[in-house]
Amino acid sequence: MNQSGLFPPDFLWGAATSAYQIEGSPSADGAGASIWHRFSATPGRVENGDTGDIACDHYRRYPEDVALMRSLGLRAYRFSIAWGRILPTGTGALNEAGIDFYSRLVDALLEAGIEPWPTLYHWDLPADLDDRGGWLNPDIAGWFADYTAVVVRRLGDRVRSWMTVNEPWVVADAGYLHGVHAPGRAGPYEAARAAINLLRSHGRSVAAARAAGAARVGLVVNLAPKHPASESEEDKAAAVRGDAYMNRQYLDPVFLGSFPEELPAIYGPGWPGASAAELALMRAPIDFLGINYYTRNLVRRDPARPPVCEGEVRNPRAEYTTTGWEVYPDGLTEILRWVAGRYPTIDLYVTENGAAFADPPTADSEPLSDPRRVAYYRAHLLAARRAIAAGVPLRGYFAWSLLDNFEWACGYSKRFGLVHVDFATQRRTMKASGLFYRDVIASNGGALDA
Ligand code: FCB
Repeated sequence: MNQSGLFPPDFLWGAATSAYQIEGSPSADGAGASIWHRFSATPGRVENGDTGDIACDHYRRYPEDVALMRSLGLRAYRFSIAWGRILPTGTGALNEAGIDFYSRLVDALLEAGIEPWPTLYHWDLPADLDDRGGWLNPDIAGWFADYTAVVVRRLGDRVRSWMTVNEPWVVADAGYLHGVHAPGRAGPYEAARAAINLLRSHGRSVAAARAAGAARVGLVVNLAPKHPASESEEDKAAAVRGDAYMNRQYLDPVFLGSFPEELPAIYGPGWPGASAAELALMRAPIDFLGINYYTRNLVRRDPARPPVCEGEVRNPRAEYTTTGWEVYPDGLTEILRWVAGRYPTIDLYVTENGAAFADPPTADSEPLSDPRRVAYYRAHLLAARRAIAAGVPLRGYFAWSLLDNFEWACGYSKRFGLVHVDFATQRRTMKASGLFYRDVIASNGGALDA
């Protein structure tokens, strides 16, 4: 960072989305159903009965969306590849039409001067694989490696940076412990198994991607500082456990080759442990780490809950987003410095950061005014800049999200976009936050000080 407070000259400015959240047309051109297709079709699972059947219709409108990205001046675009478009049943024969969609998207991005940053797994497991046990079946590491190899072989001539799994903690915690995300399983004995298989699969995917010629491979985790809600010893211990469960559970095996010592007590009899060979697999060297940051948690020991889901309290003095997350920009500096200090030096990227606020369903002016989202981005980008000034090797930042989209179990009720989407007409309308981000990119951060 130079003295005028700008970001490093090669800082990568991007925005992120994921397949099921924006594409629509989930069964088009021979694609196989995913667990989210199934989950959202199950009554009572998603707010308002919303599904990803149409979403932002990005599958058909991607040229328009790439044009929007170009108008923002994005240098990179993080998207995800739907496994079931490539291999409809999860394994076996390649669906040419599915890979062709991503191939065309990659070409359109490159033509617009935007670097493609694909994630291989952003939660939409082929439903047929779930029928075979999904993330609970140890064979999934081989299935994921085979899928990785197919995709990297086809797109690796144009894609440099690959991400394996998005937020393994959420996959295990929301999908297998609480059952609020697909595949909707809720049981104390499954989450730890899913976590271990996610980490094994990540390791196999890294190896498969490299063997297929991938230039750079990384993992994406979501991290949150865990702060005790009071000075009591119980709350302090609960915060440490919360940190082990959410943050260190995934990073320690990847970077240090071991699991946090708290996990057996946190999971109780649900903790299966991992063998030395499994730990070695998880530790496959990666080239960068993606960090998704939204909020922190104020942790309170709640004796009514098992240690795997510690209690939380709200901060009465803070602003909250409509997803109920405290706006806490300092947490981004804190978590980046924590990662840089605890783990071996590696390129870091903020692969998601953003906020849902209550924009109207229909935009009647352009740009749509969203001052709270502008303030959120400004504060978090300043927090990122402070981390860089403190020596953190942060190389890029991706806003979540380019477009308002399907926010999982919340359906379309939460809007995170830099660009507003009217889901009835598919009209895109720029938000003030989009223009603000455009100015930040154009000035390499200078606009933050304006
Ligand atoms: C993250 C997910 C992303 C989006 C944001 C709001 O946990 O990776 O798909 O839903 O939260």
